[in-house]
Amino acid sequence: MQPVLLKPGIHWVGAVDFNLRNFHHYSRSPEGSTYNAYLIQDEKTVLVDTVSHHYFDVLADHISALVDPRKVDYIICNHLEQDHSGVLPRIVELCKPEKIFCSTMGLKSITRQFNTEGWPIVAVKDGERLNIGKRNITFLETRMLHWPDSMVSYVEEDRVLFSNDAFGQNVATSRRFVDEYERPLLLRAMKDYYNNIVLPYSPMVIKTLDRVAQLGIPIDIIAPDHGLIFRTPEDVKFVLDSYRAFAEQKPKLRAVVAYESMWGATESMAYAVGDGLDDEGVPYVLLDMQHNHVSAVMNELADSGALILGSATRNNMPMVNMVALMAHVKGLKPQNLVGATFGAHGWSGEAPKMMAEELASMKVDVIGEPVRAHFGAKSEELAACRELGAAVARALKEKVKASA
Ligand code: FEO
Repeated sequence: MQPVLLKPGIHWVGAVDFNLRNFHHYSRSPEGSTYNAYLIQDEKTVLVDTVSHHYFDVLADHISALVDPRKVDYIICNHLEQDHSGVLPRIVELCKPEKIFCSTMGLKSITRQFNTEGWPIVAVKDGERLNIGKRNITFLETRMLHWPDSMVSYVEEDRVLFSNDAFGQNVATSRRFVDEYERPLLLRAMKDYYNNIVLPYSPMVIKTLDRVAQLGIPIDIIAPDHGLIFRTPEDVKFVLDSYRAFAEQKPKLRAVVAYESMWGATESMAYAVGDGLDDEGVPYVLLDMQHNHVSAVMNELADSGALILGSATRNNMPMVNMVALMAHVKGLKPQNLVGATFGAHGWSGEAPKMMAEELASMKVDVIGEPVRAHFGAKSEELAACRELGAAVARALKEKVKASA
């Protein structure tokens, strides 16, 4: 792989991780990912972000293909999570930069993460401008999008926005640009990334999009630090509009039924719930948590307005994968959902009520009472599950109508 030209004097110099399947140890990345870094060659040579520690050689080779690494004058650290800063000590040693720029919150982070003695770190303020010759770079803080230190860098003359984690996708391919990739796969990857990483910061996303619109910043290219780069006017608009829609989280007419069975009874209840959704014309997906990662549920929720949970009870609790799912979902703070719960049990059967309470604590509109079945689900319990699915579908249709 070689450096890739974005605009004259601006290259992608990052790394593609084709085999990554566990992104940040909390989200699956079935299509791999990339760690994008960029090199701007002007009177000053500027490296924008770095890569995960596994990819030092790749980054060093890509820089070397364009310039002697010792000629890198500035390093911009838009964000100091390890996937972008893991190689920083080695890159600083290699390049010996004149300055390293980060946000004011980044300063706290960089000095805690690394032995920065002797590093020429400069903390930049929101809106600060850096001249590098013919070009000017403006730093815009995007605190909590998605870390306190996060910022983006905008090259005014080339109209390139280096957006760091924002607008990323977990996609590994030999191509670098969105217009070289299948659109449905891209959209799926964007939603998966957003819903499992960015979702809790949706208010910040809307605020940032509004700010960019108010500033009237012209953008030719959005270059994120993960996945593909948006370089056409249509694709730039597409990703900005998509992010607004993701952040707004308007309810959608589709349901996710996530369940975990012990001996099959809860699973039979899940299928009955699905029949009830079907009766009301609401499409759904069934996800068995013994076979699906928690991030798959959030991925499906991107296109859904209902989350229905089913679990057997084990030791007075929902099954462990269901507990993990609820923790994952709760932390991501999804909005505007309706939900319901069900489950089979042999002894005490607390799980459905506990899951309903957990959904309510996430501000999900919980429909009906939890449906429980003692040992195998008999016809009356399956009928109750079917009616539960239908009730959720009716509530969801009302919610969708109200939000239209
Ligand atoms: Fe891609 Fe927050 O790191």
